[in-house]
Amino acid sequence: MSSSILPDARTAFLNNGICNKYDYYFPVYDRHFARYKGRDEVVMLEIGVQKGGAIEPWRQFFGPGLRYYGMDIDPACKALERDGVTIFIGDQQDRAALAEVKRNMPRPDIILDDGGHKSKQQVVSFEELYPWLKDDGTYMVEDIQTAFWKGFERTFLWKGRLYFDGFLGYAHRLGRQLTEYHWDIRNRYRYLEPRETRQGTVPVSDFCKSTFAMTWHDSFVVFEKRPMPEPMRWEG
Ligand SMILES: C[S@@+](CC[C@H](N)C(=O)[O-])C[C@H]1O[C@@H](n2cnc3c(N)ncnc32)[C@H](O)[C@@H]1O
Repeated sequence: MSSSILPDARTAFLNNGICNKYDYYFPVYDRHFARYKGRDEVVMLEIGVQKGGAIEPWRQFFGPGLRYYGMDIDPACKALERDGVTIFIGDQQDRAALAEVKRNMPRPDIILDDGGHKSKQQVVSFEELYPWLKDDGTYMVEDIQTAFWKGFERTFLWKGRLYFDGFLGYAHRLGRQLTEYHWDIRNRYRYLEPRETRQGTVPVSDFCKSTFAMTWHDSFVVFEKRPMPEPMRWEG
């Protein structure tokens, strides 16, 4: 199906029933998910299904190629299963439950964490699922503003000291890791050499080797995977 005839996120969500989103979320979805629209197959894992209010909008948005997988702690969500919709019941902070999800579905193109919105849940899910996401996939964590809300393992300062930095701090540290290839200044000369003639490897994290971009929006952080080999530098 041609992606040009598929609706944008705002239209898909507002025309299709139950919706609980801020208006500025729709352009965030358009920006990061548009490239998957109209594909013969798009595998999506959404953590947090609730009443299934996003399933039909996502089908409208991505087209009939959508294979929707959801995970929720609420057993009632299982009743939402139908053709092209599979629901796992489990806690996103439980590594065994996440392993069960991974055993029972293909590696996804997209993971959207719209679950419990607590820091530890977001971190554990990310640690378990990000390495498994397809190598060119997108991982979106929604509602990160809850880090400042009572009842959500808040990030806050006390007498100028960061008391707890939760998922926001975790994601900031990952942001720094994007530059890991350059942490040793001597590598500047290494990167002038053709890759084939270099000795050994530069020890960087799997995150650095597999992440092309991180994008911050109000209430979201989005990770785009892409294999990132050692840099090649040209000096004219
Ligand atoms: C914001 S709602 C999801 C909304 C849905 N994505 C939509 O757009 O309609 C959050 C959901 O996360 C689920 N949830 C809360 N804690 C969870 C946990 N620890 N593991 C998995 N799901 C959880 C809740 O049961 C609830 O259904």
